[in-house]
Amino acid sequence: MNIIVTGGAGFIGSNFIFYMLKKYPDYRIVCLDSLTYAGNLSTLAPVMDNPNFRFVKEDITNREGVYKLFEEEHPDVIVNFAAESHVDRSIENPQIFLNTNIIGTSVLMDACRKYGIKRFHQVSTDEVYGDLPIDRPDLFFTEDTPIHTSSPYSSSKASADLLVMAYHRTYGLPVSISRCSNNYGPYQFPEKLIPLMIKNALNDQPLPVYGKGLNVRDWLYVEDHCRAIDLIIHNGRQGEVYNVGGHNEMKNIDIVKLICRELGKSESLITYVADRKGHDQRYAIDPAKIHHELGWLPETRFADGIRMTIQWYLDNRKWWEDIISGDYQNYYEKMYANRIADGSRQA
Ligand code: NAD
Ligand code: DAU
Repeated sequence: MNIIVTGGAGFIGSNFIFYMLKKYPDYRIVCLDSLTYAGNLSTLAPVMDNPNFRFVKEDITNREGVYKLFEEEHPDVIVNFAAESHVDRSIENPQIFLNTNIIGTSVLMDACRKYGIKRFHQVSTDEVYGDLPIDRPDLFFTEDTPIHTSSPYSSSKASADLLVMAYHRTYGLPVSISRCSNNYGPYQFPEKLIPLMIKNALNDQPLPVYGKGLNVRDWLYVEDHCRAIDLIIHNGRQGEVYNVGGHNEMKNIDIVKLICRELGKSESLITYVADRKGHDQRYAIDPAKIHHELGWLPETRFADGIRMTIQWYLDNRKWWEDIISGDYQNYYEKMYANRIADGSRQA
């Protein structure tokens, strides 16, 4: 089997590459990634010398480059992780989200149509369903929940999902889609809640909690997500959507307090800042379909996963220090300077 993994230098894509090369030593994995701010080639260092692995620096929106790679590799399967993935950035600058997440997905699927493919798998998100009320813990997202997006990011992901299903119906492209809840684990870029809080706590910096910190996310250890995608591309039905999540809902503030406790840091570092615009209240996945059809269940309990994750950031300081010493520093200042000013005006 020859698999092209797009976005494999990012958080989930890199974890997926490690998982697949370990589980299927005879598969060939080609990573296509344009190395945006979120893509880090050093992440892939452990597999760079593996003869069954190839890295190609390319943009999924570059039709010529994508077609050339298909001609060279004749892939059986495409797993599309490549995306602009951070909601806050999409609020600042939506355009790049539309280019990469929508146009990029269509270019990849055009290549699949032109050269043939056994499966095109789109890695989507529970954010396409919008949000659920905090005071209705009985409600969950199922695959039949209507698309109802809140941010430019989630709208771009939903648009891509619609295109994927349209290519299936119109051209008979063998597609599948997974919609997963919030992931955490090694190699997550320190702009997302958990690694950002770990990094700031370790540096005794303020922990910026949006609004009152009461928004709820449904956390899944990244390896459990990788296993779900593995099952879907091998045994999942074409033209189907599979929700992926582990019934692990937590309020943001409780996660931040837990990180403080695990690192022995004072909760006085917690700083309430201005809320995210259009902030989704609660995400909660009903994973019954993937469980019943493919036997998937999460294997990592949150209590264990968060400890492993914190330990990974402690053991791999150089990985995230290299990141924050560069461009990320400018981003951080731009994104939080106003929030902190707004938050103190609100308090
Ligand atoms: P990430 O931001 O860590 O990584 C994205 C990767 O895509 C980077 O390596 C980047 O260089 C690459 N990329 C971006 N634009 C590209 C382009 N035009 N061409 C080629 N490569 C490009 O993202 P992530 O958190 O690993 O998310 C991966 C996928 O999973 C995304 O599609 C995201 O929507 C989805 N997802 C993420 C989560 C989560 O909690 N992080 C949950 C559900 C779904
Ligand atoms: O649900 C899946 C989605 O999860 C993915 O599709 C996205 O790619 C991924 O980024 C993630 O989106 P969120 O917006 O839920 O993740 P984020 O880590 O940005 O924020 C999680 C929660 O924490 C959210 O309620 C906002 C809050 N937050 C976040 C940051 C970065 C804070 O309170 N402070 C912060 O500094």
